[in-house]
Amino acid sequence: MTDKSVTVLIPGRIHPRVLERLERDFDIVRVPEQGGELELDEATRAKVRGVAVSGTLQRAWMDALPNLEIVSNFGVGYDGVDADHAATKGIIVTHTPDVLNDEVADTTIGLLLNTVRRLPRAEAWLRDGRWKSEGAFALSPLSLKGRHVGLLGLGRIGLEIAHRLEAFKLKVSYHTRTPRSDVSYTHYSSLREMAQAVDTLICIVPGTAATHKIINAEILSALGPNGVFINVGRGSSVDEAALEAALRSGTIAAAGLDVFYEEPTTASAFLDLDNVSLLPHVASASVPTRNAMADLVVDNLIGWFTDKTVISPVPETPVKK
Ligand code: DGY
Repeated sequence: MTDKSVTVLIPGRIHPRVLERLERDFDIVRVPEQGGELELDEATRAKVRGVAVSGTLQRAWMDALPNLEIVSNFGVGYDGVDADHAATKGIIVTHTPDVLNDEVADTTIGLLLNTVRRLPRAEAWLRDGRWKSEGAFALSPLSLKGRHVGLLGLGRIGLEIAHRLEAFKLKVSYHTRTPRSDVSYTHYSSLREMAQAVDTLICIVPGTAATHKIINAEILSALGPNGVFINVGRGSSVDEAALEAALRSGTIAAAGLDVFYEEPTTASAFLDLDNVSLLPHVASASVPTRNAMADLVVDNLIGWFTDKTVISPVPETPVKK
């Protein structure tokens, strides 16, 4: 595939490896990611047959590309692309599952430990010279030992998190719409009942209408004063005002957040809280894992434009073999 006969649109920023590889095989058109109309003349719009996107592809832009065949999304989560709408138009959407499972699961455990044992604050204590000048860092009120973790979501990444939690000798339960037949963890059909039963809640569900603000005041109150909440899924799953209130009032003990309702964010509502550990959406953000994700974005496009096969379509737009 080197005749560059196919035009691929890249809205906004994308991983440099995606750009470098796509430029070898495709005719590339780039536009800034912004609200409003797609600023491309009619002839260019008509040429575009593929999109590579990291973030959001506006639905109106999908509609403005009459010959669009495939949207290749950078990320396992594709909440920035309306896949149901794409399906109605016969447009394939692909994403980057599996290659990031271990990285995200590892980061989740790190964030859980940071939250419970306050390790980033302990390091800051040393770096600021306070160990020498003021003495030992305060004991962490919480411990990971003996916790019962409830996973909201038990997909590919959730399962990797569960396996790691088992190695930490922790009890694992989960809430999904449908119980899995291949695990022995206790399934809760009600999120509230699971929150009541566990003391640690990890959210690893995609951002959809069904998960929007699913973590609310009621769930946090059910989790209780020894409760730890960790979010590595999507910020849209959390009512952040309710979470802030729960952390300030002691309704729950602590939270670790890698994702936020709006990103990027200064997370100003949480900054003065001592019982929160914050990360800037880095769960999959290592060079090797992001390279693997970038390759999958490109390989899906090459597959489609070579022989109409893709490696990782989203379930809303299956590709017939
Ligand atoms: C994803 O792939 O959806 C992750 O959130 C990116 O880090």
